[in-house]
Amino acid sequence: MTKRIYVITSASGRIAGAVASGLLRAGHEVRAIARDPEKLRTLAAQGATVITGNLTDRALLEHAFTGADAALLLISGDRASRDFRRYFADVGAGYAAAARATRLPSALFVSSLGAHSERHRGLVLIHRDVELALDDVPTLATTHLRAPFFYENLFYFTHAMKTRGGLFTPLEPDVAIDMGATRDVAALALRLLAEPAARRTVHELHGVRPLALREIAGVIAAQLGRAFPADRTSRGDHIELLVQAGASYDFAHLMNDAWDTFSTVGLMRDPAAHAATNATTRIDDFVREHVLPKLA
Ligand SMILES: NC(=O)c1ccc[n+]([C@@H]2O[C@H](COP(=O)([O-])OP(=O)(O)OC[C@H]3O[C@@H](n4cnc5c(N)ncnc54)[C@H](OP(=O)(O)O)[C@@H]3O)[C@@H](O)[C@H]2O)c1
Repeated sequence: MTKRIYVITSASGRIAGAVASGLLRAGHEVRAIARDPEKLRTLAAQGATVITGNLTDRALLEHAFTGADAALLLISGDRASRDFRRYFADVGAGYAAAARATRLPSALFVSSLGAHSERHRGLVLIHRDVELALDDVPTLATTHLRAPFFYENLFYFTHAMKTRGGLFTPLEPDVAIDMGATRDVAALALRLLAEPAARRTVHELHGVRPLALREIAGVIAAQLGRAFPADRTSRGDHIELLVQAGASYDFAHLMNDAWDTFSTVGLMRDPAAHAATNATTRIDDFVREHVLPKLA
């Protein structure tokens, strides 16, 4: 194995933390960026170099990218931002500018299924701005890993699941979409980062199979041993709930624009994608390991 130097952004998050850990286990050098170094204690103990700072800081990005072989790029964004799409695009533009300035050879961006089309709105479409900015850097080999709807998004509805005994979301419950766990995204990212990068590649992660929320409610019902209905709630109610939880109206609308898109389009696969992999985490296992403990 050739030892390589990887920069990991959002290293305190679910996907990036797992990827960083895997790269360290494989013997690579990891530069892990996070705002709070306390959250990177485990990675530091595994041998990561911790870089403390904000992903909006271009000087910090240039420092991190200098001499590196590849970077894992994620953008989580500030949910309180009054213009979330612009915030997201600005962080992406910062990644692109730092990659250009340091001649970073390759980067893997965690994007979203559906990012290829302007028809797919809200939190889906914002990933397109970043893909385009990165593709514009002539010296950078980009891989866009277009991830599906995370199973973990179910946790937005934990309170309603507990108090109302069902899965009540703004998504159409009978539309089947691609879903997967964040650990599936991390596993694919780890695999792709080990492969030689081509100039511009789109790799999609599809679900184990297309899955609708009503089927998930059925899985929860079977495991709980009682009825667990699924129904669609109003977009307006959900927007107010998100705002009460600290999100801006802009973010809350973008999230609901994405969920309206899922509800009307269903599968958002790109016929021009170069490759696709299926997730391996089955919904039954995810519900047993992660959802049921929260409902207890
Ligand atoms: N949800 C979906 O269905 C879906 C589907 C497709 C793609 N995606 C993509 O996946 C991303 C989320 O990945 P994830 O679940 O692994 O993330 P996550 O667990 O939510 O973690 C995000 C991390 O980003 C860090 N962060 C946020 N803003 C930062 C900043 N300005 N500077 C430095 N660090 C910052 C946070 O650090 P702190 O600990 O300091 O807060 C946090 O550790 C989304 O943002 C989206 O682009 C999501």
